[in-house]
Amino acid sequence: MISEESGLSHHFEITGGDFSSAGRISTSIKEILQEIGIDSSIIVRAAIASYEAEMNVVMYAQRAVLILNITPEKLHLKLEDEGPGIENIDMAMKEGFSTATDEMREMGFGAGMGLPNIKKNADKFEISSTPGKGTSLKITICLDSTGKK
Ligand SMILES: Nc1ncnc2c1ncn2[C@@H]1O[C@H](COP(=O)(O)OP(=O)(O)OP(=O)(O)O)[C@@H](O)[C@H]1O
Ligand SMILES: [Mg+2]
Repeated sequence: MISEESGLSHHFEITGGDFSSAGRISTSIKEILQEIGIDSSIIVRAAIASYEAEMNVVMYAQRAVLILNITPEKLHLKLEDEGPGIENIDMAMKEGFSTATDEMREMGFGAGMGLPNIKKNADKFEISSTPGKGTSLKITICLDSTGKK
């Protein structure tokens, strides 16, 4: 039973540079959502958003904490990383913009589609960053299928 007040909360830690466990957290999130019977179309959106957020930490930051919070109305993903931050958020949000290295591109990353895809799959998306410190993301997906999306 999900309580009105606090909802259901899960806490994950992501380590920068750890390509071997990349995708692990978005898989756990998917499993948690399946277990509590969240609609599959919502699960797909949450899985895409969390995967892209997780991969950006693996690729660009040192570490992050990701909190999944589910209330009867909404699913929230809140990520805070420690890393280089993003100098120009407008530029980073553009489809195709990427600073991925050749090595990352060889692994299939670096299309510059991660952040735009998070935005596309969220009902609400907030990003803020302090260069030299880190980046924060707040992603909200409404659980009511008659919602905005
Ligand atoms: N957590 C982060 N910390 C620092 N820089 C970031 C972070 N997330 C994104 N960026 C910057 O924003 C750019 C765009 O990110 P986005 O996820 O859209 O594309 P990408 O990661 O380069 O490629 P793709 O996600 O398609 O594999 C990145 O190339 C990087 O410069
Ligand atoms: Mg990315």
